[in-house]
Amino acid sequence: METEKTGAAVELARGVYWVGAIDWNGRDFHGFAIPDGTTYNSYLITGEKTALIDTVKTPFAGEMLGRISQVIDPSKLDYIVVNHMELDHTGSLAELKKVTDAKIFITRRGVDILNGYFRDSGSENWNLEIVKTGDELDLGGKTLMFLEATMLHWPDSMETFLKEDRILFSNDGFGQHVATSKRYDFEAGDALPYAAEYYANILMPFHMPLLRFLGLLDKLGIEPLQIAPSHGIIWKQDLKKILDAYRAWANGEVKEKVLVIYDTMWGSTEIMANEIAEAVRADGVEVKLLNLRKNSRSHIMKEMLDAAAFAVGSPTLN
Ligand SMILES: Cc1cc2nc3c(=O)[nH]c(=O)nc-3n(C[C@H](O)[C@H](O)[C@H](O)COP(=O)(O)O)c2cc1C
Ligand SMILES: [Fe+2]
Ligand SMILES: [Fe+2]
Repeated sequence: METEKTGAAVELARGVYWVGAIDWNGRDFHGFAIPDGTTYNSYLITGEKTALIDTVKTPFAGEMLGRISQVIDPSKLDYIVVNHMELDHTGSLAELKKVTDAKIFITRRGVDILNGYFRDSGSENWNLEIVKTGDELDLGGKTLMFLEATMLHWPDSMETFLKEDRILFSNDGFGQHVATSKRYDFEAGDALPYAAEYYANILMPFHMPLLRFLGLLDKLGIEPLQIAPSHGIIWKQDLKKILDAYRAWANGEVKEKVLVIYDTMWGSTEIMANEIAEAVRADGVEVKLLNLRKNSRSHIMKEMLDAAAFAVGSPTLN
């Protein structure tokens, strides 16, 4: 398996390839700090027919097309699965549609968003098929099953399960913002802290839809061998670890941990913050002091994920 060259397509199972892009320089994801960059993961599934699952952010279209070209001629692509219309995953759709007439599989809610973004690129004439939970696409030797994941994290979101290889293409679910030349959890070091920060900043408000989605997987008897998200590494060795973490986060499980979050200009609020922290510490409970001028909001959200309580302090400045 080739994972060293960053320009290479990577085979995840026979006929299944990562053909995404690595964003080494991204530092801001609409206000969310991503100090270690990110990846936009596209996946190419080759049966008798071929399907691309998700695309990449616009500036990376060439990188994605280059990787697809190592496996098939992009103009021969039969299908495109749009799991989610946000532009980090559809930004290259117009570029791709210039070279292929591939039919697009998308949720009903995705269609309005698609036309909102791509009407000027001719999206109203694109060949679409609207799919819902349980619908299948037979590629000949590879079968894709669609699973709506409404509000994880957009109304249009869905995930796609490759039945033969038991790979769940989970789009933003289970993602992490980290740029790496490695594609798997067991190669890249511990990705759980990245997954926690991602969950806290993107998925935390949607814990109920997440619990419903995890219930859907159980109901359909879906037990993935790999979870391949649209950002970061693919979960294979640490599958149980990430699934347990998602269940715990969705259920709001917290530690005996208190945060004291504050701003200060001249130090008075900081004196109070220190007093509160010292009282918590004296009770034997873990406490973290988080000065808003020293910590990104994204990092503070990550710390909130498993905190049982938090105190907020601010001076009045007019
Ligand atoms: C530029 C400035 C504006 C302030 N405006 C207000 C105000 O509108 N109302 C108020 O009650 N205190 C005001 N204060 C007083 C601060 O809230 C007070 O000194 C506070 O203790 C400062 O907290 P800090 O030492 O953590 O920065 C102001 C102080 C400064 C320096
Ligand atoms: Fe998204
Ligand atoms: Fe995304």
